[in-house]
Amino acid sequence: MKDKKVLIVYWSRTKNTKAVAEIIHKKVGGDLVALELVTPYPEDYQTTVHQVAKENETGFLPPLKTKIDSIEKYDVVFVGFPTWGMQLPPPVKSFLNQYNLSGKTVVPFNTNGGYGIGSSFETVKKLCPSSTLPEGFSTKGGVERDGILFVMEGNKEKQVQIEVQKWLKKTGLVN
Ligand SMILES: Cc1cc2nc3c(=O)[nH]c(=O)nc-3n(C[C@H](O)[C@H](O)[C@H](O)COP(=O)(O)O)c2cc1C
Repeated sequence: MKDKKVLIVYWSRTKNTKAVAEIIHKKVGGDLVALELVTPYPEDYQTTVHQVAKENETGFLPPLKTKIDSIEKYDVVFVGFPTWGMQLPPPVKSFLNQYNLSGKTVVPFNTNGGYGIGSSFETVKKLCPSSTLPEGFSTKGGVERDGILFVMEGNKEKQVQIEVQKWLKKTGLVN
């Protein structure tokens, strides 16, 4: 990994995926970038859920405010996101549609409310047909529906640090 140029890009609303991104960043270094939209999602959870369902149905790709400087220079791109409506969140679909990651190693990581990754990892694979995809990482995050927002602190954070280290070793991304 030392001779590789790493980008860690993530989408996060309630900062759980952000926390995992920061844990990965501490271990592998590189550039850490949060995706932002031109038009942010509403504050309200239910309104957001409905908007996302509509976007998923119509295939709408929300325009990104974030610009990645010369994506060609990266060898390894970690892509982090929560599960949204059992899918890859639309902003991450936008990112993978906009940037060409062919020939690179693309590493998905995820937090979710307890229902798992859904089709999200499969969609990353579909949108990166010429990339190498090692096994992704997933852990339970918040459950905004039940008012549980940020959980990556205390014991949970420590546990995720250990799990991330194990996963990175297993995939051969760190020694
Ligand atoms: C719009 C929306 C849809 C969601 N859909 C799901 C889902 O389908 N399955 C699930 O397990 N969690 C779902 N969640 C919960 C998030 O995946 C979970 O809280 C995650 O940890 C949030 O990550 P973040 O803090 O980085 O935003 C949803 C949350 C939001 C806001």
